[in-house]
Formats: sequence, structure tokens, C-alpha cells
Amino acid sequence: MAAPKLVGIAGSFNRPSKTYALVQNVAERATERYGFTSRIHDLHDVGPSLGRAIWRKELDDQAKEIIDAIVTSDALIVGAPTYKGSYPGLFKHLIDLIEPHELRAKPIVITATGGGDRHALMVEHQLRPLFGFFMSHTLPTAVYASDRDFTDYRVSSAPLSNRIEEVVGELAAFFPAENPILAAAE
Ligand SMILES: Cc1cc2nc3c(=O)[nH]c(=O)nc-3n(C[C@H](O)[C@H](O)[C@H](O)COP(=O)(O)O)c2cc1C
Repeated sequence: MAAPKLVGIAGSFNRPSKTYALVQNVAERATERYGFTSRIHDLHDVGPSLGRAIWRKELDDQAKEIIDAIVTSDALIVGAPTYKGSYPGLFKHLIDLIEPHELRAKPIVITATGGGDRHALMVEHQLRPLFGFFMSHTLPTAVYASDRDFTDYRVSSAPLSNRIEEVVGELAAFFPAENPILAAAE
């Protein structure tokens, strides 16, 4: 059987990026535990056609291919930097080009980064309702990280690491056959 596909999308243009590092960390742990094939993209990968496109057909091939990967994934990790208490406008524009049915019932890990802790609830108040519109299965644990959780653009704090482990464990509800712990119990 083919390995399930995990796609990460980091809504940042910065390189290096804390958001990308966070999405990558979640993807690595999930891949190790469930045997996903995984790929991660940021808004740089999506490229400049995004800002000019009102409709998906106006995107260039590279951007279209990334949206295709997002909508055909078996599980998605979404990461957004916090801009003015919410996700960045261009990240929302990327999501706006996805049809409502395309993310329906998809398991989605929601993550975000911010400079400090003031907007830690943006994952609950902004990202979760956005994917609620799509009727996706956002996993119960949302992961927010601030500057102090990173060293040299790598996840370095124990509380953040624990939270990532929590949400990676929650994916077992969707991928029981791929989970060696559950498979061993059968
Ligand atoms: C335009 C802009 C607005 C921002 N607004 C907020 C904010 O409202 N709250 C916050 O905690 N951090 C805010 N930040 C800080 C970023 O969210 C933070 O540095 C984030 O981790 C950057 O992610 P990246 O390294 O992936 O680009 C803002 C940064 C920018 C550039």
C-alpha cells in the first residue's frame, strides 16, 4: 500500500523562517511515526503569481502544483506567522483559491508563530475557524510558538516540543494502520 501523503504549508516568505521550522519539525516527527511521504512549501515556493491571481486558473504551474498537493494530501500541516493578530493576507489568499469541498474532512494540524505570547490564541480564534469553514478535521491540539521557543531557527524549547508530540499523537485517530504503537497492540 502506498504511504499516506503529508503536506506542510508555511505561510511565510522569510528564509530562514520560524514558521517553516515549526512545520518541518511537526512533519519530521509525524513522518517518523506514521511513515508518511512528506513535502513542505512556503510562500516563496508558491511564487509571485499568487498575488496577481483572482482565480486559480491564473496561477503559474508551480503555484497550481502546490495547491494540487495541498488538496490531494492525506493530512495537512498549516503554519502561519502572526501578522497583526492574525494570519498574513497572502496566506489567506492562497487558501481563498481552494474550493470548499477540497479540504472537507481532511485532518489538519494547525500551527502558528509570533514574536511573543500576546497572540497565542490566534490559532484558536483565526486559524481554526478558517478551516472550520472547509469542514476540515482540525486536530484538537493547536501549536503556537514564539521567538523564545527557537534557537537559530530550530525548535528548542521543551514545552513546544511536548505540544508537538501531543498533536502528532492525535494523528493516530486518522492513521491507525500506520502507527506502529497501535499496530503492535492488535
Ligand atoms: C507585518 C508583521 C506583523 C506582525 N504582527 C505580529 C503580531 O501581531 N503578533 C505577534 O506576536 N507577532 C507579530 N509579528 C512577528 C511575527 O509573527 C514573528 O516574527 C513570526 O515568528 C515570523 O515568522 P517567520 O520567521 O516564519 O517569518 C509580526 C511581524 C510582521 C512582519
